[in-house]
Amino acid sequence: MKFFVDTADTDEIRDLAATGFVDGVTTNPSLIAKSGRKFLDVVREICDMVDGPVSAEVTATDHETMLSEGRKLAQLARNVAVKVPMTPDGLKTCRALADDGAMVNVTLCFSPGQAILAAKAGASFVSPFIGRLDDISRDGMQLIADIIAIYRQYDRFGTEVLVASIRHPMHVVEAAKLGAHIATMPPNVLRQLYKHPLTDAGLAAFLADWEKTGQSILDS
Ligand code: E4P
Repeated sequence: MKFFVDTADTDEIRDLAATGFVDGVTTNPSLIAKSGRKFLDVVREICDMVDGPVSAEVTATDHETMLSEGRKLAQLARNVAVKVPMTPDGLKTCRALADDGAMVNVTLCFSPGQAILAAKAGASFVSPFIGRLDDISRDGMQLIADIIAIYRQYDRFGTEVLVASIRHPMHVVEAAKLGAHIATMPPNVLRQLYKHPLTDAGLAAFLADWEKTGQSILDS
């Protein structure tokens, strides 16, 4: 499973990229607004920091303008994945950008039928938002299971399932159990994956016992 981070905070991305666990980045207009920075500057900077796909979302809603925006974004760096919304115009734009050879991430997917459309439109990635489904008392993880089951029936679907709107580490674990290709998560969720109280307690006990020996590995 690949790990993407879902943020436009370049300090966070730089910090997490150093762990070796960041395979890509996703942004959206809300995250760009939160950064308070110019969109294209942020995308260029992230693309320099991370080798893998960096999703940058179009903001027009009509096909012609989306396509112009998408082509502009795709030219920023070789690893830009143009993000388009799951709308008729978005999918038409997805097909055109995919025909150009660009990576496209179809975002705001909330049903298996929408995921089929994204694959048929040539998307490199489809982003089902599981947290937002959970928020309205629908089973977000069941959507992931359904999409994976459908995609497995068709070898020609080259679309990767990019699990989005992740809220906590168990979302990542459950998505991995289902075989999802990618999980995009906020920085705090990636950091939480390291944590277990027994790891902390065990390490503290080992270090206390080691201290009693008075030894040093480097001085031995
Ligand atoms: C993914 O591409 C989206 O940016 C993101 O996962 C949305 O998450 P949210 O529902 O927490 O805003």
